Amino acid sequence: MEESIYGSHKGAMEDVMNIILSSIEELRERMTKEFGSDPVEHCLARIKSEESMREKCRRQQIPETTESALETIHDAIGIRVVCAFISDVYSVRDHLRSMEKVEVIEEKDYIKQAKPNGYRSLHMILRYDHKYYVEIQLRTISMDTWAALEHHIHYKKTASDNDKLIIAELKRCADELASTDMSMQTIRDMIRKDL
Ligand code: GTP
Ligand code: MG
Repeated sequence: MEESIYGSHKGAMEDVMNIILSSIEELRERMTKEFGSDPVEHCLARIKSEESMREKCRRQQIPETTESALETIHDAIGIRVVCAFISDVYSVRDHLRSMEKVEVIEEKDYIKQAKPNGYRSLHMILRYDHKYYVEIQLRTISMDTWAALEHHIHYKKTASDNDKLIIAELKRCADELASTDMSMQTIRDMIRKDL
């Protein structure tokens, strides 16, 4: 059998993934106790498959080596955290920033500044214990719904006649969802003030 692109690191990578997931679980428990609501709807975590990692190396025209997979590419370990409210996204972000042994290498806030197509999420690249990179995507349920649908459509490679309209409509949906997210946040803030 061909050797894994991750060499002997797969176990350690899973450990890092689980340490971060457990830490998010602790935050959930703490906030649930404190505020009576869980900041996280659900988390997804994965180690990028052998095949996708090799494909990404080829796409980036870098050698298919363990070094490329662990040091050049930063999303071998990926965690997506889906939250109910925008403020919860930032609570999780702050929690990750404060974690022991975690360095924030990069943070891209596509919530404050959406991508031109309407995509919204907060992306972080973390490095754990000076060694393993982890890509984190933080988003609300609405943002997650939109990203899933957009991904679906994108991979269908639609006919070119309708492309402009589809892009514009997707953008409009993204902006409407963002506006709803803000209204929901306002409602939640009003309820919290009354408690
Ligand atoms: P990668 O080489 O793919 O990591 O791109 P990048 O380093 O420029 O990072 P970026 O923050 O643009 O995107 C990283 C990940 O976010 C992607 O692999 C997707 O999972 C997600 N993402 C970014 N843009 C979009 C988008 O327009 N639509 C959807 N559905 N997902 C997106
Ligand atoms: Mg990336």
